[in-house]
Amino acid sequence: MGKLRVGVVGAGWGQLQIEAFQRVRGLEVTALCDVDAARAGELAKQYQIDRTFVEYRDLLADAAIDLVSVASPPDLHESMARAAIDAGKAVLCEKPLALDARAARGLLDCAQARGIVHAVDFEMRFLPALAYCKELIDEEYLGRLLRVDVTMAMERPWGVHGHWAADDARGGGVLMEVGANFIDILRWWFGDVSAVLANRRTHFPTIRVARPKGAPGDGFENRRVTGDDAFWSVLQFARGGEALVSFVTGARHDPGWTISAYGDSGSLVVNSGQLIGRRDGDREMAILPIPKRLELGDNPRDPLMWSMARLAERVAAKMNDTRSPLVFPDFGDGVAVAQIVDAIRRASDERAWVNVA
Ligand SMILES: NC(=O)c1ccc[n+]([C@@H]2O[C@H](COP(=O)([O-])OP(=O)(O)OC[C@H]3O[C@@H](n4cnc5c(N)ncnc54)[C@H](O)[C@@H]3O)[C@@H](O)[C@H]2O)c1
Repeated sequence: MGKLRVGVVGAGWGQLQIEAFQRVRGLEVTALCDVDAARAGELAKQYQIDRTFVEYRDLLADAAIDLVSVASPPDLHESMARAAIDAGKAVLCEKPLALDARAARGLLDCAQARGIVHAVDFEMRFLPALAYCKELIDEEYLGRLLRVDVTMAMERPWGVHGHWAADDARGGGVLMEVGANFIDILRWWFGDVSAVLANRRTHFPTIRVARPKGAPGDGFENRRVTGDDAFWSVLQFARGGEALVSFVTGARHDPGWTISAYGDSGSLVVNSGQLIGRRDGDREMAILPIPKRLELGDNPRDPLMWSMARLAERVAAKMNDTRSPLVFPDFGDGVAVAQIVDAIRRASDERAWVNVA
């Protein structure tokens, strides 16, 4: 069987995607689009990609492309993914699928009506410790879930990531950008979320950043940040148990993230990729060895890139055979996460519990 040809739109995070796709046996990246032609050209040369475009519709018009990866800023996902579906391409869209659940739902409907393969890049599901937790939770390791705590603390204030990432209206902010990945993991492990309580904050409403090279001035400029750079939320799961999710940026020393899940017969804690656990009959919390089959490549050592390759492998399998049993996050998951994110935003604005639509 010939290789499936991929066109990537957006050459920021898209670079890591290219590295991932090039490690999947059944895929080849044949086209790259970015409004920054120089950047696209540079990457095309580095990764030996045949064609570059500055206008994504020109990439979509290339009949040879089977799969389009949308890795542009979030406010462009909806229009680009919709155009790709209309062009009959399979679509792998970066998270967030769209700016809100209504728009995400529209994309799911459209993809289903057209019968294309659709995926959302929630690649963290393939990080070995998290993938193994999913198996253990499905095997009732925890028993009845009581509580899961997710904490993430990053040193850089989120606003320094730049214009769209700092802009609430463009899908920026730490909730949409990083929180969404963890919300996907929680939902994948524990099922639907029925209601949320939350508070979003912007601790650093103005950020002083270096001007782009060649720009006039003293080398720095102040930028306004409208996106959240911290939030906490309580998520109630429909089948019982709750999550406390707490994200803060601008914290000293980059402490990283931890997920601790507690049930009435076991506990699981993931910290920096290491999994420890204890269940009835164990003497103490101990490192749980992760099965070899879930391990990722380590040359180069880039777990997210390898996770994305795992996800893309499954998308390719589905494109080659629609009966493939391999599961990957799709637009349905993108919609479900968007519904939770919308509810968190509303709960924070209204300072009240909000049911998830
Ligand atoms: N899954 C993950 O773990 C993960 C990690 C990082 C980023 N992302 C997602 O990837 C997406 C891109 O993020 P990023 O960090 O690369 O942003 P970025 O701003 O660094 O890069 C976006 C790229 O898109 C290009 N672009 C903008 N408008 C375009 C257009 N109309 N046509 C073609 N190209 C255009 C920009 O020139 C830029 O090169 C976001 O949705 C983000 O949430 C996902």
